[in-house]
Amino acid sequence: MNTTQSIQSSAQVVSGTPLAGRVAVVTGASSGIGEATAVRFAELGAKVALLARRGDRLDQVEDRIRAGGGTALALPTDVTDRAAVLATADRVADELGRVDLVFANAGVQLISGITDLATADWDTQIDLNVKGVMNTVQAFVPSLEAAAAAGRGADLIMTSSIAAVRILEGFQVYSATKAYVSQLARLLRTELGRKKIRVATVQPGMVDTELPDHVTDPAASKLMADLLTQIDVLSSEDVAETVAFLSAVPKHVNLTEITMLPTEQII
Ligand SMILES: NC(=O)c1ccc[n+]([C@@H]2O[C@H](COP(=O)([O-])OP(=O)(O)OC[C@H]3O[C@@H](n4cnc5c(N)ncnc54)[C@H](OP(=O)(O)O)[C@@H]3O)[C@@H](O)[C@H]2O)c1
Repeated sequence: MNTTQSIQSSAQVVSGTPLAGRVAVVTGASSGIGEATAVRFAELGAKVALLARRGDRLDQVEDRIRAGGGTALALPTDVTDRAAVLATADRVADELGRVDLVFANAGVQLISGITDLATADWDTQIDLNVKGVMNTVQAFVPSLEAAAAAGRGADLIMTSSIAAVRILEGFQVYSATKAYVSQLARLLRTELGRKKIRVATVQPGMVDTELPDHVTDPAASKLMADLLTQIDVLSSEDVAETVAFLSAVPKHVNLTEITMLPTEQII
């Protein structure tokens, strides 16, 4: 498991404050990829709304960003609760301004054989990885549309996974939710692209985060923990820098699907 303190830094390729004047929302900002990306967005000049369920962790991220001179707002929100996400969107608009950069990143990975009938785990993944993303889309696409119509950059970036395209035993439901996200992005581009809203996905391989800690199947949990020690995996900062880069390139450029693997990852 990684913590804020033990995260390794990766080389930063984006410099200056290319996100100055932008208002970002990051879901899953209390740990891992979301936390690192929120911090990086703020370093690059964006005001950042931090969404996840653990308010204490969000407060720490907010403090960290403020200590670095940035602007952040911790807004504890369960993104599976549509009404809660809509209420949070109103607060973001009131307190930070019109959102023009959305990183729909919150997700959970629960691995098991399909014949185990781990239906609670199926529901948890579908509720968060699919419906949580749709709730985020519903709440923030109107402000992206308004930003783009006003001539500003507008980004919807979602965290998919290499699991969206790989065939891995035990990953059935997780992989299907991530395939949903990748395909959703392709389809959203047909409508939002012509409105000058960029829609993109980042599809990472193995990243050292809390993700495996939630796996309920002990064998699957061990498999993932072992992988983390066997190869030099990605850090959350590696993914954050990539998402920052997607957001910082000129607004007529859409890096639509970025797959990033640890160099040694062969599955
Ligand atoms: N780690 C990897 O190897 C890897 C690879 C490919 C893709 N991904 C994807 O990367 C994304 C981020 O995961 P991570 O690896 O950074 O793991 P993580 O540290 O476990 O982050 C997951 C985040 O989602 C939040 N979350 C969970 N349930 C939520 C809910 N109902 N409402 C709002 N937020 C919720 C968690 O915060 P709270 O618990 O505070 O709510 C946490 O901030 C996920 O979509 C995951 O599928 C990860």
